Amino acid sequence: MSLPDSSLSPLELLRSLDWQADEITLGDIAFRLEVLGASVSPSDNGEKVTLYKSRAFIRNYERLLTSRPDFRPTLILELGIWGGGSVVLWNEVFRPDRMVGLDIMPDPGIVPLRSYVDSVTSASVLLHWQGSQDDSDLLNQIIQSDFEGRPPDLVIDDASHMYWPTRRSFEILFPLMQEGSVYVIEDWRSGVDAPTHGTPLHQIASDLLAMATSRGSLISTISILPGILVIERGRRPAPSGFRLTVTEQPSSSTTIGEMKGLVRRLGSRARR
Ligand SMILES: C[S@@+](CC[C@H](N)C(=O)[O-])C[C@H]1O[C@@H](n2cnc3c(N)ncnc32)[C@H](O)[C@@H]1O
Repeated sequence: MSLPDSSLSPLELLRSLDWQADEITLGDIAFRLEVLGASVSPSDNGEKVTLYKSRAFIRNYERLLTSRPDFRPTLILELGIWGGGSVVLWNEVFRPDRMVGLDIMPDPGIVPLRSYVDSVTSASVLLHWQGSQDDSDLLNQIIQSDFEGRPPDLVIDDASHMYWPTRRSFEILFPLMQEGSVYVIEDWRSGVDAPTHGTPLHQIASDLLAMATSRGSLISTISILPGILVIERGRRPAPSGFRLTVTEQPSSSTTIGEMKGLVRRLGSRARR
């Protein structure tokens, strides 16, 4: 297999993707593109891994890398493997020391994914099946054994797209990450059209803003792109038992009292 040009930066590699109607290629690695919502399990044609991403979506990552041209993560954890296309893509684009994927479903036994994992050197790609993104014991075990005790410097959450498991993974992993590390939450607008699925995922953006306000430099930046939330770790250590700050809705009497106070203040200012 001829691999993509190793002299190219991650951004250049992403831009070098050759997009066809139903497949893309990077070097001579071909990915079959999954049509959104096409099937309940990833397809396996025995030749290409399946990537569940569109060209427009990949532009989110181009923007991320444009703003961080020197970002070179060495330990990457991706939540949500599906057909394995993104594990392969991120491993080729970033060339980390270790690329770990986790998925709640049983191993679908995708032949081209297995061949790829077997072909890369020194077990640099490790996959965990039947594990949930909100299982703190499992996430800590991955850090201890797969990353040899070091936290990932890039986490990509493309798993449940549900508020609570997504929030839990963040609460477990983000405090452990080092300054400058990046945590990505994909498809953060999921659930907007399906309110029956409980708290919509986009609530997490409000939680993050609230946390950035109250806990200062725990987060250094938050970027809200069309398809991804990008949260960069700041330098402040996280408190033990870290939880995202959630904005409490005030009771209606508090709100009415605040409104009356505001009206009084505005009235007296107008009379001055
Ligand atoms: C959108 S697919 C991932 C697509 C893949 N990253 C790609 O770009 O090709 C989402 C995956 O998340 C997995 N998933 C759903 N809930 C999960 C959970 N609680 N923990 C871990 N994985 C989960 C699903 O089984 C599914 O394979």
